Amino acid sequence: MPAISASAPGKAILFGEHAVVYGRPAIAIPLSQVQAKVIVTAEPLGTPGKVHVEAPDIELTSDLDRLDANHPLAVLLNGIRQHLGIPRLPAFCLRIRSTIPIAAGLGSGAAVSVATARAVTAFLGHPLTDEVISQLAYEVEKLYHGTPSGIDNTVVTYARPIYFRRGEPFTALQIAEPFTLVIADSGSKSLTGEVVADVRRQWQRNQNKIEALFDAIAEICEQARQVIEQERSWRLGELMTRNHSLLQELNVSSPELDRLVEAALQAGATGAKLSGAGRGGNMIALTEADSASRVAAALEQAGARRTLISSVTHPLTRE
Ligand code: PMV
Repeated sequence: MPAISASAPGKAILFGEHAVVYGRPAIAIPLSQVQAKVIVTAEPLGTPGKVHVEAPDIELTSDLDRLDANHPLAVLLNGIRQHLGIPRLPAFCLRIRSTIPIAAGLGSGAAVSVATARAVTAFLGHPLTDEVISQLAYEVEKLYHGTPSGIDNTVVTYARPIYFRRGEPFTALQIAEPFTLVIADSGSKSLTGEVVADVRRQWQRNQNKIEALFDAIAEICEQARQVIEQERSWRLGELMTRNHSLLQELNVSSPELDRLVEAALQAGATGAKLSGAGRGGNMIALTEADSASRVAAALEQAGARRTLISSVTHPLTRE
């Protein structure tokens, strides 16, 4: 049997992170420059049920039954098995490669889950719909923090810009006028679960204040949706910078992220903000297409570990 492969892109949240966990809207885009790719090969002579996993990017080489039952791959493969009603998986080898930085707010966990679910179910002869793939990945997202909004698995599965509200069908965004983003890695890792838990503690301590911040973020997100869909993308930058200020008030920025946001604005970006859970990971800057390399260079000068330039058009293709 030939090897089966599948891939999934990274993602960036443009507006609404954290508030989206509390029912507010958010906007996210796929990042096809970074990808998770999974290859499944049959092991015809292997013992049924013996799944071998190789993930060199996280230095993992193991048989599935040696992984903790709560390991994301164990949870995912178990979810697939249950969904398909298969008592035991056949023997196969799963090779996972990813160019998406880990714990950096770019959706690495969701992309690995989605690519794995697609490759394994295709290998088993039961390719699943995007809806089911996204749901399987969502179950794994719950391991990273108990209350994921579902935005990561959704944008990574459907690989198109989305307007998203927790628990509701997403809306595919029409991009009226393509725009350019520079994405810069602050170099420090950030665990989504910890930051989300800290926001929860703040919310428990001062519900009125935090709810008001979420409402202000929601208002910005609604305006951003209109701008994106109605060709006035010059206003998008200002909205991003305002969203960043609110995330600072929510205590989820960091000195490195603030420095990068400032550097991007100084270099001519029309707006900038952290992206994802914050406290580390990546930030994004909106630029004119012809000044993107200048802004990227300024971000590297200001300490960014690496930068990506992404043109957001409609819709991005899936590999
Ligand atoms: O996985 P990250 O770091 O991109 O964070 C996801 C965005 C949050 O809003 C912070 C969490 C969530 O579940 O939506």
